[in-house]
Formats: sequence, C-alpha cells, structure tokens
Amino acid sequence: MQTVAERVEHQLTDKGYVPVYTTRVIEQPWDTYTATDHETWATLFKRQRELLVGRAANEFVENQERFGMSADVIPKFSDLNRVLAETTGWELIAVEGLLPELTFFEHLANRRFPVTWWIRKPEQLDYLSEPDLFHDLFGHVPLLLNPVFADYMQAYGAGGVKAAAIAPEALANLTRLYWYTVEFGLINTPEGLRIYGAGIVSSKGESIYSLEADAPNRIGFDLERVMRTRYRIDTYQKTYFVIDSYEQLIEATRPDFTPLYARLADAASHPAGNVLDSDTVYQRGTGEGWLSDGDV
Ligand code: PHE
Ligand code: CO
Repeated sequence: MQTVAERVEHQLTDKGYVPVYTTRVIEQPWDTYTATDHETWATLFKRQRELLVGRAANEFVENQERFGMSADVIPKFSDLNRVLAETTGWELIAVEGLLPELTFFEHLANRRFPVTWWIRKPEQLDYLSEPDLFHDLFGHVPLLLNPVFADYMQAYGAGGVKAAAIAPEALANLTRLYWYTVEFGLINTPEGLRIYGAGIVSSKGESIYSLEADAPNRIGFDLERVMRTRYRIDTYQKTYFVIDSYEQLIEATRPDFTPLYARLADAASHPAGNVLDSDTVYQRGTGEGWLSDGDV
C-alpha cells in the first residue's frame, strides 16, 4: 500500500498558500513505488535528457551519469548517498514535501539535502505546483557533486538560518537569490548559455523557453540586483540571471549580508520583467505573452 504524504498545514508565504509537511525524515519507501511511478520517472527522465544535452551545463548530465541515474528505475537514495559520501559529503534525506523554511535551511547548513520521496501522477507530467521526487532528484541532486556548488548550497543554508533571525524582509531577499540561481539560473559557457537551475531542467517547456524564446530577459548576475527582483511562481520567468561560473556565485555571496539586508530594507523592489540601465544585457526580452500582474 502506498503511504500518503502527510500534510500538516497550509502556510501563507510570498508564494501564496503552500502546503507544509511534517518535518519528519523518513526512510525512502522504495518498495512502495508502483510500476506506474517507475514509468513516470522513465518518461520524464528520457524526455528531459534528450532536451538537456546541449542545453544544460555539461556537468549536469555528466554528474547524473556519475550517480548512475538512469531511466530504468527510480534511484535509491542509499545508492546516491554512497557516491556523495565519497565526493562532496552531502547526504540525501527523504521527506514528505516542502519543509518549514528554518528546518530546510538547517538541513542545508549541515549538507543534508531534503528530497521529496513521492513522484507526480501521470497526468502531471508537464506541471505540478509543488516539488516532487523528479524535480528534487533529477533537478537538484546532480550539482551536489560539483564541489563549488556543493559549498554554495551549504553556505546558503547557513545564510538562511541567519536571515531568519534578522527579519522577514531579509528572508525574502535571500529567497529571491535561491530562486534566480538554484532554481532558475543560467550559466555562460564557451558553448553559449546553458541551464543549471533545477526548476528549469525539470520542466520541458521552460528548458526550451529559458534559452530560446525571445520573450524573457537574460541578464548578467549581480547579487544586489537579484535580491531586489520579484519573480513568477505561476508562469515562466520574465528574467533569467546568467552567472559566469559557480565560483562567481560563491565569491559574490561570501561577504556578510547583514549590511546588505539593512540597505535593501529601504530599497524598492524591481518588477520581474524590468531591465535597468546598470544591467549587463544578454538579451532584452520582447515581453510577449507576459501577464502584467502576479509578480511575487
Ligand atoms: N554571506 C551570506 C550572509 O552573510 C550567507 C550566504 C552565503 C547566503 C551563500 C547565500 C548564499 O548571510
Ligand atoms: Co527546487
């Protein structure tokens, strides 16, 4: 019998009402995956891998291979954890779904990455409103093998614990950074722009749109700019921020953010689709198809 993920409440956040699950860490109930679950994994895995060769950063696909991830079967966290233990020292833990923010930060700060154990239903292949196993495992886990990115994720967790103690506004600034890097980041490589954000690589439509559409802006990463920029949770992004390297990310975020939070508290936020004079513009989007309201 398939156990049901235990939802404890709905919490009003800057992303609207989101389900919050029990903070319990469980054993991945691998034996409860049905043939349909494995098929869903296989379908999504094949579809995305085909799209992502040449679109995602090379290390994304390479690292999936180092993990031994394949379309054949939903990976066992215990197998992936053996690879992580020998490399960057991260550990995957199975959870029911979204965690309260502070709990999530504490896990990251200790190099534990929470992965939703259940996978979406066949009718949700193209979209679901909360992270599932495919998003977390296929999207986030590969870059945990990259030593620099692995350190960035840990530093982010520690930064989250700190920001939570400062002010809700500080946390909102930090959430934008996560959104525009870990979830929706692009990276500039000798072969052109590539995807590294988990929210993009786990979406068929956005994998193409983020790189190839004329509508969105593509702008060089700037820490303060990103932390002031609102974002979309219900449509593709209006703006993608481009890093030059993971080193750039970790260097830019190394300083103490306390004075930055104080400065940003008095600064207006930028609408998701704005282009500023100070931006390094890779592409100025046409804005076609954008909804005028709904930036969070
Ligand atoms: N340097 C940040 C701080 O002092 C912590 C941080 C690191 C935040 C990396 C995000 C990413 O709060
Ligand atoms: Co995610």
